[in-house]
Amino acid sequence: MCGIVGYVGEQDAADVLVDALSKLEYRGYDSAGIAVFEDGEIKVEKCQGRLDNLRKKMEEVGKPEGCVGIGHTRWATHGEPSDINSHPHGNKRVTIVHNGIIENYKEVKEFLVGKGYEFVSETDTETVAKLLDYYYDGNPVDTIIKVVSEITGSYALGIMFADYPEHVYAVRKDSPMLIGVGKGENFLGSDVTAFLKYTKDYYLIEQDEICDITANAIKIVDIHKNPIKKELQTATWDVNAAEKGGYAHFMLKEIHEQSNAVKMTISPRVKDGMPDFSETGMTKEELASFRQIYIVACGTAMHAGMVGKYVIEKLARTSVIVDIASEFRYRDPLIGEGDLLIVISQSGETADTKAALALGKERGAKTLAIVNVVGSSIAREADMVLYTNAGPEISVASTKAYSVQIAAMYLFAFELAYVKKAISEDECRKYVKELLEIPDYITHTLDVKKDCQQVASKLLNADSLLYIGRGLDYALSMEGSLKLKEISYIHSESYAAGELKHGTISLITEHMPVIAVATQKALIEKTVSNIKEVKARGAKVYLVCGESLQLEEGIADAIIRIPEVDEILMPTLCAIPLQLIAYYTSVLRGNDVDKPRNLAKSVTVE
Ligand code: F6R
Repeated sequence: MCGIVGYVGEQDAADVLVDALSKLEYRGYDSAGIAVFEDGEIKVEKCQGRLDNLRKKMEEVGKPEGCVGIGHTRWATHGEPSDINSHPHGNKRVTIVHNGIIENYKEVKEFLVGKGYEFVSETDTETVAKLLDYYYDGNPVDTIIKVVSEITGSYALGIMFADYPEHVYAVRKDSPMLIGVGKGENFLGSDVTAFLKYTKDYYLIEQDEICDITANAIKIVDIHKNPIKKELQTATWDVNAAEKGGYAHFMLKEIHEQSNAVKMTISPRVKDGMPDFSETGMTKEELASFRQIYIVACGTAMHAGMVGKYVIEKLARTSVIVDIASEFRYRDPLIGEGDLLIVISQSGETADTKAALALGKERGAKTLAIVNVVGSSIAREADMVLYTNAGPEISVASTKAYSVQIAAMYLFAFELAYVKKAISEDECRKYVKELLEIPDYITHTLDVKKDCQQVASKLLNADSLLYIGRGLDYALSMEGSLKLKEISYIHSESYAAGELKHGTISLITEHMPVIAVATQKALIEKTVSNIKEVKARGAKVYLVCGESLQLEEGIADAIIRIPEVDEILMPTLCAIPLQLIAYYTSVLRGNDVDKPRNLAKSVTVE
């Protein structure tokens, strides 16, 4: 989704802004632009395409020279990607960059057209720029307050008023924005990675707070102009964590970081060999009392929830409903008092997950957020939060965030099973011990790289493939399939292996490769039968299974064997070959692995 940056200081603003925007590229975008005060005038450069296009353009025409400015990467919502629709928008008096969607922009536009304004772009953003211009009375804060009271929807806005060339203004609602606090310089950023290179200190801007930022001062007021005092936050993420560090792609780096990420997520939540969720404030009695658990999320995070469901139901004998956030929010779910809603989100800003959380709260459920980004909206809005300490995930295709989400789900399941007396203390300790050993096993599992590369070379020209598995293997193959789709652009579907006969097996020909996952002992024979069925119909089969599994000769065209741990924990290892198969297929097809087409890292609009 769009990214906003801002700079006020003594450095060359264009350089800082473009550099900061490059750190937000991972969010997904289709055009970029900056506005800088040059000799007291607002100068804008913007164009469609990658940041390199903007850099090239500025090399040709000269970059705006100055020390104050705002910048933007746009992910088109209203109007196609084009130079005209790119941000910043505005005029010589007021210029803005915007994330989010202005819902009443048509009414606002009509009003402004009636006042004689002309519009050049198809964006909702331009209406906000013109409305600011319309109400501008010489006082930026008053003007911003007037405008935000008239627009609806979600927004994070970076604003420059020509009369105030040493200031950048900001305001947000339902779209994140932070102020990076430096020495003699300050920053704006949609997330900390934008300014991490310059400072780790930042303020979180809350709903409808209006910020006036200069090089040496940050003034924040609420909508009634009451001054707001903020607590300074310090990012724990290392600046190197947001760099590729010698890997060809962020995705490959993040796959390698999984061992450490899982360790960082699990270790702090284990005390004396038992799960410890005291940081959430939830008592054991309360945990044991929930009637129904809902896990709601989107995409990969929802798939982590599927693993959570299997494990919680198996160990804690408590019913779990997993739902896609965009469905949950509109289906009038039965959630209410006495239920627990767990929302899972890497970014903590996903619009549908946020709405699902709000609905759960409204209906009286207790809410727990499993989130990676500290201080994100979902983390702040939930009753309880459990941070997955994966560090920044830059690649659009989620890998380490998934692994830490499932690790958190396991620990939660162990604790719930224990407090509900579905497992004994000894059993709980045994599970926790095994989970603590998983990071080492993850490292060993990475040895399957070569095998995955070979499988990828076989999938390269496929038009479509199937992932099959049963039980936890099915939950996992959903994620394997999504990973392949999103970065290789090859269609795939995941299917519960036993369901093939009920229709889908008609798709099987020699042109439909099948990736089978078989790690669950009680189900292996069944899955093997399904493998035989598809093989008999000509499919090439690539099997992921444990290293000691005895199989008939020729059962599959390639077998990727991974280390074996307690079968309930196998998804923590099995995820790795599936991620690597997707990764290498994307690389071999020459795709932009870290920034797949049409996708955004953080889906902050519906
Ligand atoms: C896929 C992927 C997405 C996200 C989904 C939710 O690789 O990353 O499916 O999992 O958009 O995002 P978060 O976790 O930020 O809520």
